[in-house]
Amino acid sequence: MNKFLETGTILFLLLWIVFVYVLYMLPEDNASEAKAFPNSDTDISIEYELEIARGRQISLLDDESSINPLNLTCKPESFGYTLEEALFLFPNVTYPRCEEQYISSPEAFYINRTDNTLHMNCTGKVALGFLEANEEFGKYWYYDRLKDYNGEPLALETEEYAFGTCDISKWSNFEHVAYKLRPNKESLQRAKNSLRGKPINIVMLVIDSLSRRMFFRKLPKSVEYLNSIAKNVSIFDFKLHHVIGQNSQYSFMPTFYGDIPIVVSEYMQGDLYYDVSIWKYLHERGFVTMMGMDNCDNNLPQFIGRKPKVDHKMGSIWCAASAQYGYSETSKRERCIGNKNAHAWMMDYILDFSETYKNVSRYTYMHIDTAHEETGTVVSTIDLDLKKFLEEFFSRDEDSILFLMGDHGMRYGEWFKSKDGSHEHKLPLLLIMAKDRVLEKIPNSSKILLQNTNRLLSKFDFHTILQHLGNYPDLESHREEIRTKTSKRLTTYNWFTDYVPDNRTCEDAGIPIFWCGCKSFIEITEDKNSEIFQNLTKSVIEVFNTENHIYYRWKKTICVKLHLNETKYIGKLEDEDLDYYKIKFTIKEKESAMFEVIVRLSRDPIEKHESEYFSVHKIDFGEMKFFNIMNVNRLDSYDSICKEKIIKRKFDPTYCICDENDFKRKSLNTTNGNNSGKQ
Ligand SMILES: *[C@@H]1O[C@H](CO)[C@@H](O)[C@H](O)[C@H]1NC(C)=O
Ligand SMILES: *[C@@H]1O[C@H](CO)[C@@H](O)[C@H](O)[C@H]1NC(C)=O
Ligand SMILES: *[C@@H]1O[C@H](CO)[C@@H](O)[C@H](O)[C@H]1NC(C)=O
Ligand SMILES: *[C@@H]1O[C@H](CO)[C@@H](O)[C@H](O)[C@H]1NC(C)=O
Ligand SMILES: *[C@@H]1O[C@H](CO)[C@@H](O)[C@H](O)[C@H]1NC(C)=O
Ligand SMILES: *[C@@H]1O[C@H](CO)[C@@H](O)[C@H](O)[C@H]1NC(C)=O
Ligand SMILES: *[C@@H]1O[C@H](CO)[C@@H](O)[C@H](O)[C@H]1NC(C)=O
Ligand SMILES: *[C@@H]1O[C@H](CO)[C@@H](O)[C@H](O)[C@H]1NC(C)=O
Ligand SMILES: *[C@@H]1O[C@H](CO)[C@@H](O)[C@H](O)[C@H]1NC(C)=O
Ligand SMILES: *[C@@H]1O[C@H](CO)[C@@H](O)[C@H](O)[C@H]1NC(C)=O
Ligand SMILES: *[C@@H]1O[C@H](CO)[C@@H](O)[C@H](O)[C@H]1NC(C)=O
Ligand SMILES: *[C@@H]1O[C@H](CO)[C@@H](O)[C@H](O)[C@H]1NC(C)=O
Repeated sequence: MNKFLETGTILFLLLWIVFVYVLYMLPEDNASEAKAFPNSDTDISIEYELEIARGRQISLLDDESSINPLNLTCKPESFGYTLEEALFLFPNVTYPRCEEQYISSPEAFYINRTDNTLHMNCTGKVALGFLEANEEFGKYWYYDRLKDYNGEPLALETEEYAFGTCDISKWSNFEHVAYKLRPNKESLQRAKNSLRGKPINIVMLVIDSLSRRMFFRKLPKSVEYLNSIAKNVSIFDFKLHHVIGQNSQYSFMPTFYGDIPIVVSEYMQGDLYYDVSIWKYLHERGFVTMMGMDNCDNNLPQFIGRKPKVDHKMGSIWCAASAQYGYSETSKRERCIGNKNAHAWMMDYILDFSETYKNVSRYTYMHIDTAHEETGTVVSTIDLDLKKFLEEFFSRDEDSILFLMGDHGMRYGEWFKSKDGSHEHKLPLLLIMAKDRVLEKIPNSSKILLQNTNRLLSKFDFHTILQHLGNYPDLESHREEIRTKTSKRLTTYNWFTDYVPDNRTCEDAGIPIFWCGCKSFIEITEDKNSEIFQNLTKSVIEVFNTENHIYYRWKKTICVKLHLNETKYIGKLEDEDLDYYKIKFTIKEKESAMFEVIVRLSRDPIEKHESEYFSVHKIDFGEMKFFNIMNVNRLDSYDSICKEKIIKRKFDPTYCICDENDFKRKSLNTTNGNNSGKQ
């Protein structure tokens, strides 16, 4: 009896401890979404954590709703365009599908790897891809390796792709394309010899210029799929994956090499930083590696070299496709290479690679340029292909992790001028999707990842994480050593095993102040109205007036000249020899208008690449300085009768104010006078 009671009490206490423990361990922002309490008593915490991760639906506005309630040192002022702004800027466009433009099929044209032959179901001609020895990244001349095809299988050498047509009169835009990986026996053998445990397949699928919000806005089918994904995959949606610079290199350089200087190399030979490269590290640990970047230019090679020693490269086809199909990585149309989009060929190659080397570990870095264009709408052509890829990738029976990410958000011209636009650039997409069986092997990883989805991340962390995963599933040993290998000046975190601190700052994360989404200005109160600040604000308004009165032959300004009424706030932030000011002010011309502007002042001329948006001006600020406006934000809602007219004439409604009376009178005259159609 006594014994029974004792056992009961102990059991009760144990359950209570578990209950309290689980409650306590819930990430704070998530408590309300908690699912039913699990009743299994074995390994309760892991099961429960996974349940939380699985039950989460990812969605667009999670960024605001998750981050804003938290007490983080770095909280971005904006997460990107509002729904309304985005709808206006990036309308829905339906692009024709490539399979409607080129009629082909896998039976009509294919490469047989068993006997290394090319097959076409008709006579005609084929253009062969480059030989493996010539496979490299960068811009170069693709010469057609053109051959007649007489209906018999054609013996290949080391080509991986070919184009073909049944129409002998064609010289370009061949309807058939085949791309098939050639297994590399040496790479496989090396990987087998150094493999340390169960193989893992790690894929980084990087969609250039894809912000987190753009992903949710433009890829609804993929989002829908992810929200219904199989029970054995967990998805983590990182809201503070932050850039450290403007372009792609500030993303892939830290990923590949850790914290090394980012310099443009004039000599693009070879593999410039092989010794510190992630592929070397992974090669020593049972991996085969692959890299692809879909452009025929020197963006990648001028930073890393033309021939990184990865086992497979998807490089030359883009120059071939430029010649064959007029392919361009900045095109504002769908990017068909035969019956598939450029990105679909890359996704298929990842699956081919995954299967070919399934007995060893694999690392892929695939950089897709579909969103790399000005309209912000071509990205929607990825949606169906991505969904299909995700389905196929996760139905593979293997340990796998997929990083689906942007390197940065859109960064072309006008987008930077507004606060929301400049912030959307700073917060690219990052989803980590992992098989549960991977997470189960890394203690507490689901819980830690989940918390980190709402913490400030650094691009340098990627290198630490990849090195750790190279030792999969042993992520504990060499932990400190790997950290310091990535960077001597910064502390990096492995998001699977380390909680990223709430008080991480841009500085801690290696994010330069210029790019930081959460600059902490210190208010200047006493001399806000001093002459020097009056001058600064007036200079800002002068820039607006100039921009608003730039004369084009075909358009006449409708913006009135602006004059300062009152400076409401001045905040300052110092960074080496640069000063940043945030100014809020009103103008005389419109009582409700309130502007917030971030300005940068420098003693030296401001670097060109960072000043492409608002131009650089000189200012007498005690001494002569250079200044430029970084972005403008309107604090009032500036919907007005003028807004549409301003936009129509291609002025920026954020800082162009028109005389509303003009339009009120005119529109009254047109409606009353009933002269529609005569305008
Ligand atoms: C937020 O964190 C800071 C620094 O840790 C602390 O001083 C402050 O009290 C916290 N605020 C709230 C509301 O918890
Ligand atoms: C654009 O497409 C999205 C997703 O398909 C849809 O939710 C939205 O309503 C569409 N917007 C317009 C203006 O058609
Ligand atoms: C070859 O394949 C294409 C695409 O599947 C098909 O349209 C065509 O009829 C085939 N031609 C021959 C000669 O079989
Ligand atoms: C590929 O070639 C092998 C060897 O010649 C042959 O057995 C196989 O049927 C071929 N596969 C296809 C799809 O043509
Ligand atoms: C993988 O390993 C299995 C068993 O060890 C073997 O049967 C299979 O042929 C291998 N596959 C490849 C692609 O190497
Ligand atoms: C789990 O993953 C396998 C592939 O690893 C897939 O085929 C299967 O459908 C998934 N199971 C469930 C229940 O979703
Ligand atoms: C997992 O988390 C629990 C609770 O915080 C902790 O006691 C345990 O040591 C962690 N396990 C590992 C391997 O870090
Ligand atoms: C950040 O928080 C940690 C504890 O979580 C503390 O040790 C560290 O001093 C804090 N750093 C700053 C700059 O406040
Ligand atoms: C303000 O601007 C005026 C006119 O450009 C200039 O003469 C004056 O020196 C400036 N004041 C300061 C404090 O820089
Ligand atoms: C200018 O500022 C004053 C306060 O200093 C305010 O009373 C007035 O309404 C403002 N005028 C306009 C046109 O905004
Ligand atoms: C509108 O009509 C009135 C009276 O017909 C005229 O005086 C005025 O100039 C017109 N306004 C404009 C903007 O055309
Ligand atoms: C405008 O004029 C048309 C014919 O010119 C007439 O049918 C219509 O009723 C008129 N509308 C108004 C509001 O007067």
